[in-house]
Amino acid sequence: MKRIITTLVILSIGLVSFSQSEKKMTTNNGAPVGDNQNSKTVGEYGPVLLEDIHLVEKLAAFDRERIPERVVHPRGAGASGYFEATKDMSDYTRAVLFAEAGKKTDLAVRFSTVIHGKGSPETARDPRGFAVKFYTEQGNYDIVGNNLPIFFIRDAIKFPDMVHSLKPSPETNKQDPNRFFDFFSHVPEATHMITRLWTDLGIPKGYQFMNGSSVHGYKWINKAGKVTYVKYSWISKQGEKNLTAEEASIQQGKDWQHATVSLRKDIADKNYPQWDLYVQMIKPEDIHSFDFWPLDATKDWPADKIEKIKIGTMTLNQNPVNYFEQVESIAFSPGALIPGVEPSEDKLLQGRLFSYFDTQRHRLGPNFQQLKINQPLEDPKNYNSDSWNSAGNKRFENPDVNYQPSSKASLSEDTQYKQSETTLTNVTITQKKITKTNDFAQAGDFYRSLTKKEQNNLIKNLSGDLGQVTDKNIQMTMIGYFYQADRDYGMRIAEALGFSAKDFMKK
Ligand code: HEM
Repeated sequence: MKRIITTLVILSIGLVSFSQSEKKMTTNNGAPVGDNQNSKTVGEYGPVLLEDIHLVEKLAAFDRERIPERVVHPRGAGASGYFEATKDMSDYTRAVLFAEAGKKTDLAVRFSTVIHGKGSPETARDPRGFAVKFYTEQGNYDIVGNNLPIFFIRDAIKFPDMVHSLKPSPETNKQDPNRFFDFFSHVPEATHMITRLWTDLGIPKGYQFMNGSSVHGYKWINKAGKVTYVKYSWISKQGEKNLTAEEASIQQGKDWQHATVSLRKDIADKNYPQWDLYVQMIKPEDIHSFDFWPLDATKDWPADKIEKIKIGTMTLNQNPVNYFEQVESIAFSPGALIPGVEPSEDKLLQGRLFSYFDTQRHRLGPNFQQLKINQPLEDPKNYNSDSWNSAGNKRFENPDVNYQPSSKASLSEDTQYKQSETTLTNVTITQKKITKTNDFAQAGDFYRSLTKKEQNNLIKNLSGDLGQVTDKNIQMTMIGYFYQADRDYGMRIAEALGFSAKDFMKK
């Protein structure tokens, strides 16, 4: 009797699980799969047959599951939600998402660390990527920023070398302060970013607890073609919270994926994270009126001189259901712009305009914009065509015409959206550093704005890493930069590294 009952229970479990999965499995070419558990063999105990196409295709798909990880920012977490404008900015920009208070625009974000690989800990001292893709009715608009409002360098030509110095050594495969401080000792403009990054801002407690910035200035263009330079800031409504170096090492021992986990959890618990978006504006005629060059990415736009105006709020209310399709495959670019926003002359930004679309052709394939997460609301309409995985080339009314201009083509330009015009006089084409470098003043201002505790942590964090550098000349050059930012700052780092005034006199 007991045996009969057990058999019935087993049978009924089988029936329940059978009736739960009503949708039937198919192969990639759509044919039903009869058995997904047993390979086709020669007899019960014989070898496996190559003609088991389902098995072979399943393994082949598995073999190709990984794509190249992002060359920087490989580790990240994503979410989607919406932006709600709180102010009509149409006097300054024709960008549709900022056109009227109350206007809502869907968006997707990806937050990331920068240097280490896809499976690295989220406790690293590193800038955090803060990338937002707005799906507007005039195309996708990306603000691809970071949590800190400035960057290490001002010219894209230095970026590959900087990243090489920060990545693990090609010889030892270890990240090494000897290498990156060697690089930075030749790059005084990095002093400001180093100062911010080695405070506790360098390890945000979680993605919800960091602010964001476009870092670069962009150009807003209104309907009349008037240009305004703008810089964006995202201010976390959860408050800015960071980990000290000690807290980060405890966190790492417990759970080093905490940032991804806590973002997902807050969204799942309907505790939706929010950020307010602020804009700062500079008129073109005022752009030269500061003691720094506002289109130099190593410089902040001080809020006491250039007002921050709130223009909307972002809410994240959906977790991705497929990480690969919605986060790994999302492709952001500072070049994804819509009418009303154009690049500024920032030299770092200009290099980025090339680099992102280019790397995505390599990482995701030439038709990466046809992947669902990257598709604009309206199907793109142009005659770019073909190549690998092309699935979206529209043939329009006349499938024979894939060129333009043509008397038979169904597409034409919308001339109201021409790019803005700039008149240049007395222009020299040149290749040199900007004159107004002002490499240290803002680093000093920032140091002096810190509380005593924040300054102490900066000195501890920075001297801890700089202390690992074996070349005294590199250490002394870096100290010289910190000293030029602020005398106390430089002296304290020197003291923490065991230098005396005499050491500098000898130099
Ligand atoms: C010339 C300087 C720079 C170059 C050449 C560069 C290049 C790149 C490349 C190639 C990627 C990988 C993109 C992908 O695979 O989809 C990337 C990602 C990223 N970069 Fe940059 N970058 C530069 C500077 C910056 C700056 C200044 C910022 C911040 C304002 C920034 C923020 C980001 C972010 C947030 C991502 C990750 C985007 C995502 O989540 O997919 N980068 N960068």
